[in-house]
Amino acid sequence: MSAQLLALLLSSTLMLSSPPLIGAAARDTLRRKSSIAVEDHDTHTLRSPDRTFSCGFHRVYKDAFTFSVWYTDDEAAVVWSANRGTPVHAWGAAATLRKDGAMVLTDYDGTVVWQADAKSAEYAQLLDTGNLVLKNSSGDVVWQSFDSPTDTFLPTQRITDASKLVSTTDQLHVPGHYTFRFSDQSMLSLIYDNANMTSVYWPDPDFMYYENNRNLYNSTRIASLDDSGEIFSSDFAKSSRVRYASDTGAGIKRRLKLDNDGNVRLYSLNNSDKKWTVSWIAEFQPCMTHGLCGPYGICHYSPAPTCSCPPGYKMRNPGNWTQGCMPIFDISCQGEQNLTFLELRNTDYWGSDQQRIEKVSREICQNVCRDDCTCKGFQYQEGNGTCYPKSLLFNGRSFPTPTVRTMYIKLPSSLDTSKLQIPQSNVLDSAPRKPVCGPISTIFTEQNPSYLHKPSQEEPKWFYFYGFIGAFFIIEVFFFTFAWFFVLRRELKSSQVWAAEEGYKMMTNHFRMYSYRELAKATEKFAHELGWGGTGVAYKGILDDDRLVVVKKLGNIRHSREEFNDELHVIARINHMNLVRIYGFCSERSHRMLVLEYAEKGSLAHILFKSKISLEWNQRFNIALGVAKGLAYLHHECLEWIIHCNLKPENILLDQDLEPKITDFGLAKLVNRSGDNQNVTRARGTIGYIAPEWISGLPITAKVDVYSYGVVLLELVSGTRVFDLVKGEDEKVHVMLKKFIKMLSYRLDREEPFWIAEFVDFRLGGEFDYSQAKALIKLSVSCLEEERKKRPTMESVVESLLSVDLAIDQ
Ligand SMILES: *[C@@H]1O[C@H](CO)[C@@H](O)[C@H](O)[C@H]1NC(C)=O
Ligand SMILES: *[C@@H]1O[C@H](CO)[C@@H](O)[C@H](O)[C@H]1NC(C)=O
Ligand SMILES: *[C@@H]1O[C@H](CO)[C@@H](O)[C@H](O)[C@H]1NC(C)=O
Ligand SMILES: *[C@@H]1O[C@H](CO)[C@@H](O)[C@H](O)[C@H]1NC(C)=O
Ligand SMILES: *[C@@H]1O[C@H](CO)[C@@H](O)[C@H](O)[C@H]1NC(C)=O
Ligand SMILES: *[C@@H]1O[C@H](CO)[C@@H](O)[C@H](O)[C@H]1NC(C)=O
Ligand SMILES: *[C@@H]1O[C@H](CO)[C@@H](O)[C@H](O)[C@H]1NC(C)=O
Repeated sequence: MSAQLLALLLSSTLMLSSPPLIGAAARDTLRRKSSIAVEDHDTHTLRSPDRTFSCGFHRVYKDAFTFSVWYTDDEAAVVWSANRGTPVHAWGAAATLRKDGAMVLTDYDGTVVWQADAKSAEYAQLLDTGNLVLKNSSGDVVWQSFDSPTDTFLPTQRITDASKLVSTTDQLHVPGHYTFRFSDQSMLSLIYDNANMTSVYWPDPDFMYYENNRNLYNSTRIASLDDSGEIFSSDFAKSSRVRYASDTGAGIKRRLKLDNDGNVRLYSLNNSDKKWTVSWIAEFQPCMTHGLCGPYGICHYSPAPTCSCPPGYKMRNPGNWTQGCMPIFDISCQGEQNLTFLELRNTDYWGSDQQRIEKVSREICQNVCRDDCTCKGFQYQEGNGTCYPKSLLFNGRSFPTPTVRTMYIKLPSSLDTSKLQIPQSNVLDSAPRKPVCGPISTIFTEQNPSYLHKPSQEEPKWFYFYGFIGAFFIIEVFFFTFAWFFVLRRELKSSQVWAAEEGYKMMTNHFRMYSYRELAKATEKFAHELGWGGTGVAYKGILDDDRLVVVKKLGNIRHSREEFNDELHVIARINHMNLVRIYGFCSERSHRMLVLEYAEKGSLAHILFKSKISLEWNQRFNIALGVAKGLAYLHHECLEWIIHCNLKPENILLDQDLEPKITDFGLAKLVNRSGDNQNVTRARGTIGYIAPEWISGLPITAKVDVYSYGVVLLELVSGTRVFDLVKGEDEKVHVMLKKFIKMLSYRLDREEPFWIAEFVDFRLGGEFDYSQAKALIKLSVSCLEEERKKRPTMESVVESLLSVDLAIDQ
């Protein structure tokens, strides 16, 4: 008997015996001439060896099935389907590996619904990665499901030029209009695709590719997701090669899915409660998604994403925004009809531009659109007079903050728009839902009446309505993402949405890059100036997540963008309670900005020299200690050795609890631990605070900060600028200061008790600790030594202060 015959015999015995008897539940392979019948969908599935994935018939409706791969623990988490959109019947259908080695899916009547693009396969096997492969007799893969993804992408799978994800619609489980693939420009994109148009909505088409951190035309065209949750794409710019999941790390099961709302989310499986959580999301703003509100529809946040029709339009198919709105009037192209244009502020319909006319008045733009019957309206940018007449109003979106974009839509003058109602509802508040997909296919599929239905009395007239969007929602939408997730979380009680919020917070709490637009929004277009520091102007702002921040526009940064970013990544790692936190930065075109922690009480200079309130003694002592700790950290503890170079009361901020926080550090060139560095810019120091070696041009070391600290210490004790104490003589400040310090040192040596009480800030009214005051003056005198080697290090300053404090406590 030949070996082949034996193999055949063996496999046919297996085939005959296994399916009905043991259900083949734990098998990972389907051999030639065997099949899986739809009737056995409960019992007969392929299992990956580690049992993570199952492959078999998956029920999409009561009597309709797809041949799919899903997570064994969660049947709703389908990762691949052979026949998405063309399900087979509940009886008679089968997936067969025929004797000629072709894998086919047949319906009840024998019609081939799907066929794998491979011949001479010996067996089908479901791998631990979720990849269904066909192998030939020598064990080589001749076909794999990873090459033809549906809407999900798994770790180790690759998105290439030839593959793409297409969304699955919620209702019918057919391929939708959203795709995730490489665009013509080789950018990994989210694209709205229908018969008439293709438009990219992620990365943000309003920005240049480099502003989105992408490269153009890299023909490599490969994207991947790895086990640790890192997403890579060949077009990601060097500075941000990968995007990370919020739970980055190995050992977590993940899937990247293009959801039916047009967004890509990375889901991670929580092993303990078997629930999926969102650990990365491509687009934070749902209204950015094109086509969401259909033709003429406008998306805005209320705070959930909501669609509305413009005045003069009604919903074409109530309950389904895909079809958008239709006009309630007729504009005939022949007759003399009087037309009017209705202004919608801060609103835009993206794309479908007939042309672009620059530097024209609104009247000219309006006439162009009036004279062209196919023009439905135009967008006009007030600032530079750019005019975009549009043939179709699609991808409508109302901006949360005032923008220079205004949309004018064409209406017959006879229409009295003031009496019109605005149809609006939640974007995905559509026709009755069949609970088919379980709770985790997307965060929108869950039903929740209280969340979906708006109060019925809400029928505002359009001008109130859009004014409302423009004004009140500025505040509301500021926090829209947060609020949106919050509402969803509260109302839906879905662990996955909760995770989406967590993920969002995670991404925003860490040091990150902000866009210029975000910061302009946060600072209300740089409206609240806080002051001018040595490095630039600072503005107060509020981030989307409610954090008060200082946005500092840096002037005179000569570094290239790359250098700037590199330097910032060093600064980003600095984290000490006495140093102002740097939340992130912006590096766009010529803009270089830092996003910093906001300190409620302002600068020490303000409180000490200008404010009416006086700091108590122990508060002053605590500030002295905190500043010393912050400097010691910069000098000795953080990875890079950083010299502040410009310490002064202006650069010491105080928070709510009067805890000091040093700001403006790290911008002088970082220096090596090995020591002297001639390259430190000399322009930064401030007269009165700079060390003598600075003036004489000697190399600069961390001891310059010790000197400045000595000056600040004297000011804390005396409540007066040392500069003012020594001023008045003709000689140079630093020479006077030298004399002054000599005098202090002499008095300390002489143990004269009364001058100290005189020296200490009179505003304390004698309420201070004598020996502490004396210790502080002594310390500052040692910090102000002419010869830098004699000055203590900041570490020993901290130690001295702590011992003084301890001595008092006892
Ligand atoms: C299996 O496929 C590989 C790659 O296509 C091929 O090189 C090999 O010859 C095939 N083996 C058989 C037995 O057909
Ligand atoms: C495409 O455009 C044609 C003509 O304007 C229109 O009839 C059709 O409905 C459009 N198709 C889609 C999918 O929008
Ligand atoms: C294209 O992307 C690949 C992968 O990131 C990279 O190695 C290559 O250098 C890029 N090519 C160009 C021309 O930037
Ligand atoms: C997983 O779920 C458990 C139980 O709900 C929860 O306590 C835990 O924090 C979750 N783990 C992660 C990483 O989300
Ligand atoms: C258009 O307006 C003009 C002047 O306002 C009026 O005389 C004319 O009758 C109007 N035409 C139509 C068709 O309503
Ligand atoms: C007009 O101004 C807008 C907003 O400032 C800007 O986005 C657009 O690029 C400008 N257009 C031209 C042609 O300068
Ligand atoms: C909404 O309309 C689109 C386009 O006509 C259609 O494909 C889809 O099935 C509709 N959805 C519902 C829920 O009726």
